[in-house]
Amino acid sequence: MTKPIRKAVFPVAGLGTRVLPATKTVPKEMLTVVDRPVLQHAVEEAREAGIEHFVFVTGRNKAVIEDHFDIAYELEDTLRRRGKDKELADLLADLPPAGATSFTRQQAPLGLGHAIWCAREVVGDEPFAVLLPDMITLPGARGSRCLAQCVETYNKHGGNVIAVEEVPMDQTHQYGIVSVGEDFGHTFEINGMVEKPPKGTAPSNLIISGRYILGPEIFQILEKGEKGAGGEIQLTDSMIHLAKTQGFYGVRFDGKTYDTGSKVGFLAANVAFALARPDIAPAFKAELKKIVGTL
Ligand code: UTP
Repeated sequence: MTKPIRKAVFPVAGLGTRVLPATKTVPKEMLTVVDRPVLQHAVEEAREAGIEHFVFVTGRNKAVIEDHFDIAYELEDTLRRRGKDKELADLLADLPPAGATSFTRQQAPLGLGHAIWCAREVVGDEPFAVLLPDMITLPGARGSRCLAQCVETYNKHGGNVIAVEEVPMDQTHQYGIVSVGEDFGHTFEINGMVEKPPKGTAPSNLIISGRYILGPEIFQILEKGEKGAGGEIQLTDSMIHLAKTQGFYGVRFDGKTYDTGSKVGFLAANVAFALARPDIAPAFKAELKKIVGTL
């Protein structure tokens, strides 16, 4: 019997230098895709996958994230008095239940691996999910978003799970890459991982795309604080260590992933998420057609 995945860690302490100047004062996770912060989309994906506790690894200048997941007393009261019931209901529906969030700090952005390690006391001794919140997903034919597909694979195989995506071979040097062992189609056994391999050396074109399920043993490896690519404490390096003693499975997510941490990815996410919203899509399509017609 595998232990259920109850907790998810959201590392949100990065500097977001790729989307400056927007991120000078606004955390990149709080930039808006359609009508809610990027981070809210990731939290909804986690809720859909059955996550009960949301752990945010924040940093300085990120206090607004904590406020977003709290009640906004004056605002809610005003909406109530003005009879804006739908707006109020939408606000409350997005709010995690009392006691379901934890916030811890990464004091310096030393890398993704270090950010995850900062959540060790809150996660404790149980397997957990990690969502890179700047990567947001829309469902494909299976009808679920990425983390739900990872949890499904974990429930079947146990071990550790990583969502992957295909990129053109000439872009593999920018990402963490996995190699494929026994292949079951939608899922496969991972028999190797490498972070940012030099051009022409990647074992596949499958990139690690921002959703993970990891055993708590990863924390003992991260504890060593070893630096990898770019002088950062990389999560991939610790996963390579853990793979010596535990199984890792890859999930070929069948939907779409958007990297809102880059300017073009952020714009593409807004278009795709707006087109996926029945209440906004018709009017938005009409505007989009006017723009596309001028290209
Ligand atoms: P990124 O590399 O995309 O984030 O890390 P970044 O460092 O903010 O981006 P750029 O390159 O400067 O634009 C993926 C996720 O990991 C978090 C980020 O907040 C992001 O959600 N992260 C990264 C941390 O929490 N701490 C770190 O030290 C690094």
